[in-house]
Amino acid sequence: MADRTGHDGLTGEPVFRARGLTKTYGTGEAAVHALRDVDLDILAGEFIVLLGPSGSGKSTLLNILGGLDASTSGDARYRDHQLTGAGEPELTLYRREHVGFVFQFYNLIPSLTARENVALVTEIARNPLAPEDALTLVGLADRMDHFPAQLSGGEQQRVAIARAVAKRPEVLLCDEPTGALDVQTGVRVLAVIDRVNRELGTTTVVITHNAAIAAMADRVIHLSNGLIAHIDHNAWRQAPEEIVW
Ligand SMILES: Nc1ncnc2c1ncn2[C@@H]1O[C@H](COP(=O)(O)OP(=O)(O)OP(=O)(O)O)[C@@H](O)[C@H]1O
Ligand SMILES: [Mg+2]
Repeated sequence: MADRTGHDGLTGEPVFRARGLTKTYGTGEAAVHALRDVDLDILAGEFIVLLGPSGSGKSTLLNILGGLDASTSGDARYRDHQLTGAGEPELTLYRREHVGFVFQFYNLIPSLTARENVALVTEIARNPLAPEDALTLVGLADRMDHFPAQLSGGEQQRVAIARAVAKRPEVLLCDEPTGALDVQTGVRVLAVIDRVNRELGTTTVVITHNAAIAAMADRVIHLSNGLIAHIDHNAWRQAPEEIVW
């Protein structure tokens, strides 16, 4: 029988372990079951794509894994960090030390250059990349002294990725990173996330509404109505540039 966590056949060390993860908003008749009894393991260095209709629980799951939100019941841990039941100071430390986030809207500080936006993070990190190296990694070596308003949407998102990866997080969590971008720009941004995963070995989870992006992943987790409907294993990962949209 298939393992309920969906990682049968994969080898490697699980870094995330979720068991019976449940998130309920409200109570009684008004209760919304955002996650229902989800079991999931994610292996070190894996590239996961989370797919599912609007309201299926994707962001809820990502936010619990990232220590931005708490489950109602069940158990979630990252390596030796118990996430469920942890207090805000512990979660803040966990996020700071281990997790990079990329969201649909880039949340750059408009009055700071690309380099300065990245430096904000590297100044408080333990073993960061130099902001210049992080921006070079995302292909923005020649845009470091530009302000967000002087950059395209795709370039701004790449600054946001540089900012997320500059602290060398073990985990990169991306919630619709290409949601605000056209196809061509989206491909460029995904290529950067793919590169970070491959070159830095960063465990990566990407939420998307675009099923074509699933071809980039090691595993594709399909959420439906708060449940993992099924998990696909890709025999090989397609390069973002080769995906037919
Ligand atoms: N703060 C909240 N209060 C009440 N209900 C919430 C809250 N946040 C999310 N929900 C509900 O939980 C369910 C799951 O939401 P979630 O944001 O995880 O979905 P999603 O799969 O990310 O959807 P989308 O693709 O639209 O971003 C939805 O029904 C949503 O309305
Ligand atoms: Mg969402």
